[in-house]
Order: sequence, then structure tokens, then C-alpha cells
Amino acid sequence: MTDVRTQPWWTTAVIYEVYPRSFSDSTGDGVGDLRGITARLDYIADLGVQGIWLTPFQTSPQVDQGYDISDYCNVDPLFGTMDDFDELLAQAHARGIRLLVDIVPNHTSTEHPLFQEALASESGSEARQMFHFAEGPRGSLDDGLVPPNNWISVFGGSAWARAHPESLNDRAWFLHLFSSGQPDWNWQNPAVADYFIGVLRFWFDRGVDGIRIDVAHGLFKAEGLPDTETVPTVIDGLRSNPLAMDQEPVHEVYRRWRALADSYDEPRLLVGEVNLEPERAGRYTRPDELHQTFAFAFARLGWNPAEWVSVGQQFEQVRLATGAEPSWALENHDLVRTVTRFGGGVLGAARARAGLVALLGLPGATYIYQGQELGLPEVEVPESLRVDPMWNRGGISRDGARIPLPWQADATDSHAFSPKNAEAPPWLPIPEGWGQWAVSGQQRDAGSVHSAFTGAMQLRAALLASGVFRANESATWSLDADGLVQCSRAGGVTVVIAMGDSPVPVPAGRVLISSAPVRAGGFMPPDSAAWILPTP
Ligand code: NOJ
Repeated sequence: MTDVRTQPWWTTAVIYEVYPRSFSDSTGDGVGDLRGITARLDYIADLGVQGIWLTPFQTSPQVDQGYDISDYCNVDPLFGTMDDFDELLAQAHARGIRLLVDIVPNHTSTEHPLFQEALASESGSEARQMFHFAEGPRGSLDDGLVPPNNWISVFGGSAWARAHPESLNDRAWFLHLFSSGQPDWNWQNPAVADYFIGVLRFWFDRGVDGIRIDVAHGLFKAEGLPDTETVPTVIDGLRSNPLAMDQEPVHEVYRRWRALADSYDEPRLLVGEVNLEPERAGRYTRPDELHQTFAFAFARLGWNPAEWVSVGQQFEQVRLATGAEPSWALENHDLVRTVTRFGGGVLGAARARAGLVALLGLPGATYIYQGQELGLPEVEVPESLRVDPMWNRGGISRDGARIPLPWQADATDSHAFSPKNAEAPPWLPIPEGWGQWAVSGQQRDAGSVHSAFTGAMQLRAALLASGVFRANESATWSLDADGLVQCSRAGGVTVVIAMGDSPVPVPAGRVLISSAPVRAGGFMPPDSAAWILPTP
């Protein structure tokens, strides 16, 4: 266990994910933007978080809502200007909040100038070697119209698109692990690696405090792009191809990135989206690689006590093996909101609130997704209004977790997400009754999810300041027969989550905080969580 004051800021940080499209719209075009975020920075500061992770706002045709970047070092006009970004960064720093930007190194946009150049170039040219271009097999009846291998895109459908579909003689295809608007970079080419060093430098020099790395376990593909023998495993609708992910050379990339991040005063944070089981993901946080990877096995959990304990134990093993603490999360812009995932309605709401209180008590860092602090549920967006490319390709839509935030209960139809008299409605429809979760109402209500969140944040800060919560603190996970999950921190506090069907006796000690009324010596209702400090 280590005193937090001697540790880098991020080891025990709570970082708030802002999805710019849906946070706050300052212009009235129905899409959130950078100025909208700046205008609401006091709200974020009042949450008590240490950092913001900003999902992509860089120039993009928005095929995958910004994860298809055509200029890595610029701001898309939809979200504002570079001046707006600088102002946001300065204002965040003025409030003591660090800012992380999203970097998407596995793939780009078909509109990226280097991809456009590659499309216009000969097969085998230097320009084409920046990406994965290949010709379809010859000799079949559909000569040239068969993709080069059998890989399936993560979003569904073939992972290949034709370079020039208008020409029947051109047999070139390009690889895209996600949508066909997102060609994969060829990381075997050192020019790609150098290009991204330039991108990192650009943002680090501008003053950002770190980066979140999209599909960080992607980048390299198996040599020769052989056919896969197995049907890809589908997790949360995403298709995983072992030949396209988690290849050994990717670790060398992160060693280089880490050296660059560490060369800054103060060192920049590298957090990877490594959607692998804890042990495999743990290899990315070895001491000279990334600082953090999101605890995906945890983020995907349902309301299942045995799984919570098993996953918790696995992350503790990773911590022991690598020294890297978990970076917990239960929600992000790709996952079904916990209220819905944990059962929906009143039941789901109680569980999501318990999950949130528990999350903030676990040792390590934590990532919170905007709206999680309001207890927002997943929304069933009408099919005709869904825009997620995964919906068209794979039949699953992530739009329901991306509905614009309700700021005021009854201000306008957009609940003050957009200004009054906005010229366009919110980019995703705000459902009837959304105002019941509005920030304004929750801030005034001591019983709201927002109040539970800020209460837990204040207690967390106090426990860190007094040395009860520490950095690199070990955790012991256990499950009682009555469905009580316990995570006992070496420093003394135990986080308990009642996941059984009946009330359970509160473990001995002082109840520091709870998601539902709980008294020491009494009972915890099902679907509640508490932090308990054993009395000496
Ligand atoms: C993960 C991002 O979080 C998701 O939104 C995106 O669609 C894929 N990576 C592809 O970039």
C-alpha cells in the first residue's frame, strides 16, 4: 500500500467520460459541442472528478460517430474549433481537472488524405502500404469479387470493402475491422508508427494530460492475413477475431508511446481500450507499457454475485502480477446502461445505484460515463432514427446509451441540452419523461442518484486524504451464502453489495455510506451496497 500523495494523479482518480455529441449543445444544431462542455465545466467540477475523457471530436465524416477520424490533429466543425478546444483545456485545468483525448490508431476514415491517396495509387505502391490492400482470389466464377480472406468485421459483415467498386476489373479490397468507412492502418509499416508518434506529440504538446487509446489491442494483424478457422466469438454483439487482435508486436508500440508519455513533465496518461480477459489485458499494463486499461470483464458484468467476485479476484491477480491497479468501469458509450442491464425499472435503478456506490469504493481508478451519475436508463430508439453503424451491419444499436443529457426538467423539449429556439432537434430523440432524470431536479433532491454519487465522491476524497484509502491497495473478494459480495480493502474499508433475494445482516462495523437505508447491526435490503469500516 502506498500513500496517494506520492503517486501519480491517475492511480486513484475518478475520470468522467464526456461523449461530446450528447453532453451539451451550445449552438442549437442539435449536436453537443466543445463550447457546450466548457459552459458546463462547473457541473463536472462539482462532481468531484479528477479528469475528463473526451471521446472523439476530431475531424470526421461521423460514420461511426467520430471514431472514423480524417484529421487527427484538428477539431470537426460540428464540435467547434481548435480555439474552442484550447479554451476547454484551459478552463478544465483552471478547475484542477485533467483532460484526456481519444486517439484511434487501429483505423482511420476513408476520407483521410492518406487513404484517398492510397485509393488513387497503384496496387503495391507506397501509399497503399499504409493500409491493408489485397486482391481477391482469382479463378473463381466471381473472379475478383471475392474478399481476400474470410474475416468478419467487429460490427458484422465482411471485413473487406472493394477499393473501386465502380470498376469490374479492379480486384483490390481494403481491410476494415469496423465499418467500411474505417480502413485499418497497416502497423507493419514503420511509417504508420511514426505518423502516430506525431499525433501523440501534437496533443501532448498542446497540454492534454493523457490519451484513451481506441481498440488498443488491435493494430497488428496475423502475418499474411490467413483465413480464420473459427467463427468469431460474439461478446455484446461485437465479433472478435483472434487473428486481428492481441498480436505480440503491439506491445512494442506501447513501449514507445510510454517512453514518449514519460518524457513530459508531468507524464501523460495512457489508458487503453483492451477488451480482453483480465489476464491477457494485464499484459498491456506491464511497467513499461500502458498505465491503465479499462476493466472490461467488470464493465460487462450483469447482476451476478459469483461473477463479480470471480472478476474482482482476477483483477487482483493482475495487480499482483503487474503492479497496475484496476481501472474500474460499469458503463461507457458502447455498453447498455446499467439501470437496464441490471433488470430495468425500479429494480434496475436500485441495482445501478448500488453498483455506482460500490464502484467508487473499490481500490484503483474509476471511469464514469456521463449520465451514469443521473441513473439514466437505456433508451429504445425507434429503428428509423438509429444511426449507429453497428445497427445496419450487425443488428445491434448502441444509440440507446447515447441520448443527450437532460439538464432541466421542463425547460424545453431538449431539457436544456440545446438552447431555447434551437434550429434543430437533438441528434437522437429525447424520450418522453426524460425530464424526471434532469440534473436540476436531482441536484435539489438529497435522495437522488446524483446526490448518492456526489456523497460517495466526497467520502472517497476524504478517505484518500486521511490515508484510509490508499494507492496500490490490495483487495480480497468473497461471496457469502446469502449473496453478499464483499471486497475488503487492505486499509480496512469493506465494500459490500447485497445481490441475494433477501435482506442480509450488515457486517460488523461502521456504515460509512450506503445506496439504500442501512443501519449498523441491522439488515441490508437486496440490491443495495455499502462501505463499512470495521470498528477496532
Ligand atoms: C470502440 C469505441 O468505443 C466504439 O464506439 C467504436 O465504435 C469502436 N471502438 C471502433 O472505433
